[in-house]
Amino acid sequence: MNQLKSKRILSGVQPSGLPHLGNYFGAMKSHIEIQNSDAETFIFIADLHALTTIKNPEKLRELILNLAIDYLAIGLEPDKTVFFRQSDIHEHSELTWILNCVTPVSMLEQAHAYKDAVAKGSKDATAGLFGYPVLMAVDILIYKPDLVPVGRDQKQHVEIARDIAGKFNRIYGEVFKLPEPLIHKEFGYVIGTDGKNKMSKSYGNVINMFSDEKTLRKQVMGIVTDSTPLEEPKDPENDTVFKLYSLFADESEKKTLAEKYRAGGFGYGDAKKLLFEKILDTFKPYREKREQLKKDVQYVLNVLKQGAEKARTVASATKQEVWEKIGLML
Ligand code: ADP
Ligand code: TRP
Repeated sequence: MNQLKSKRILSGVQPSGLPHLGNYFGAMKSHIEIQNSDAETFIFIADLHALTTIKNPEKLRELILNLAIDYLAIGLEPDKTVFFRQSDIHEHSELTWILNCVTPVSMLEQAHAYKDAVAKGSKDATAGLFGYPVLMAVDILIYKPDLVPVGRDQKQHVEIARDIAGKFNRIYGEVFKLPEPLIHKEFGYVIGTDGKNKMSKSYGNVINMFSDEKTLRKQVMGIVTDSTPLEEPKDPENDTVFKLYSLFADESEKKTLAEKYRAGGFGYGDAKKLLFEKILDTFKPYREKREQLKKDVQYVLNVLKQGAEKARTVASATKQEVWEKIGLML
């Protein structure tokens, strides 16, 4: 991690549902690992982004708090990482208007979330969904990070942020740094339980990190497999249970399981049981921490408040610079 020396790293996750294995391996896990490098890390809860999908205030409050608890439970250390809530920093909303004014509509028409909504014939796509990448560009650019660790599906959004930064800098002069996405080679794409799409809340093909045992068992047992009979050999490389197990397992565990698949006499049901146990085991300490944190919500709120104070210092300095450049400072 030495290459991260004196780099600034920033990322966010939307509180739009319960975190799943795709979120964990694709994003959250590396957010935690990075805090032990020499980099300066900013992680935030993208609650303004969640408004594009969550319209129930009670639900939103619950999801925001849960995500904060989940991050702290998996090991985020507020002394090492600036951890905050997007909506606490008003500069995100203010700067979004400014960057809207330099962002071509044609750029946003290419963004996949909006394109997918249109392709599905959705008449409900909001201006919020359309402008989502601009808010995300602000989230990033306002902190001038070098790297943005995200899952592969977010790469396009980081590229849009670079394009918008370039556009602004050309018009008004250098303010923004052009960030690079940092995508995990192995975990950048986690397959869903349907075996077809990436694991995503919107496909309903998830395994949640902290479901109760009954729900977790149901999610694991629901993984779609082919119909090779129990006694016949199976190909681990093409099986979703094996792929998901591989996320957790070390090389020797993977090898042992692959041999069982190839030997035959080992069913997908058996593999699912192993995966289920592995998930429970891996997340056990985090589950316990989570239960403790749930009893001390005030602590969690204080962490977010203190994180916001640190984040605001950086965000307001960038806002000041922008205001000067664009002519709003008299
Ligand atoms: P979802 O698709 O379930 O709505 P989000 O868009 O909220 O997930 O993603 C939060 C973070 O988790 C992002 O950095 C995203 O790239 C990452 N992520 C989400 N799904 C996956 C996946 N299946 N594989 C790898 N990373 C993922
Ligand atoms: N769009 C990201 C997601 O769906 C969340 C996000 C919002 C984000 N702003 C960001 C990620 C800035 C990285 C940097 O997961």
